[in-house]
Amino acid sequence: ATNRTFTMIKPDAVANGHIGAILDHIIKGGFKIVAMKYTSLTPEKAGEFYSVHKERPFYGDLVKFMSSGPIVAAILEKDNAVEDFRKLIGATDPSKAEAGTIRQLFAKSIDANAVHGSDSDENAQIEGSFYFSAFEQF
Ligand code: CMP
Repeated sequence: ATNRTFTMIKPDAVANGHIGAILDHIIKGGFKIVAMKYTSLTPEKAGEFYSVHKERPFYGDLVKFMSSGPIVAAILEKDNAVEDFRKLIGATDPSKAEAGTIRQLFAKSIDANAVHGSDSDENAQIEGSFYFSAFEQF
């Protein structure tokens, strides 16, 4: 396993003023930020990023939502990064997320669920390099 994962602070959490609080949780959770940018996705870019979900019924709404406003994209480093980060953020559906997790604290719905976390080492690598060149990773 690699020790890196990829995250986005999604448009809902940015719009609701939670960037600082979420980064604080991430850092206090033992993750080191090795790359970060404040940016946004066009619908085309969002469609490409989430192309693994192309056949899913929620794909259209997902692409629309993820291109609706600015996001924060980051690569995070920690031992066991992918799994530990998924524990820190909680279940995809915030109503099922454990107390104290980022989604339980800051997310409103399964679509507007505050943060993304890679689901495997392979996807962490793919998703990180979608946003960051080697020179932007410290
Ligand atoms: P994320 O982990 O960023 O990747 C896919 C997103 O699709 C997911 O977060 C949710 O916000 C959204 N989504 C909406 N409905 C579903 C669903 N039924 N299952 C999984 N993801 C969903």
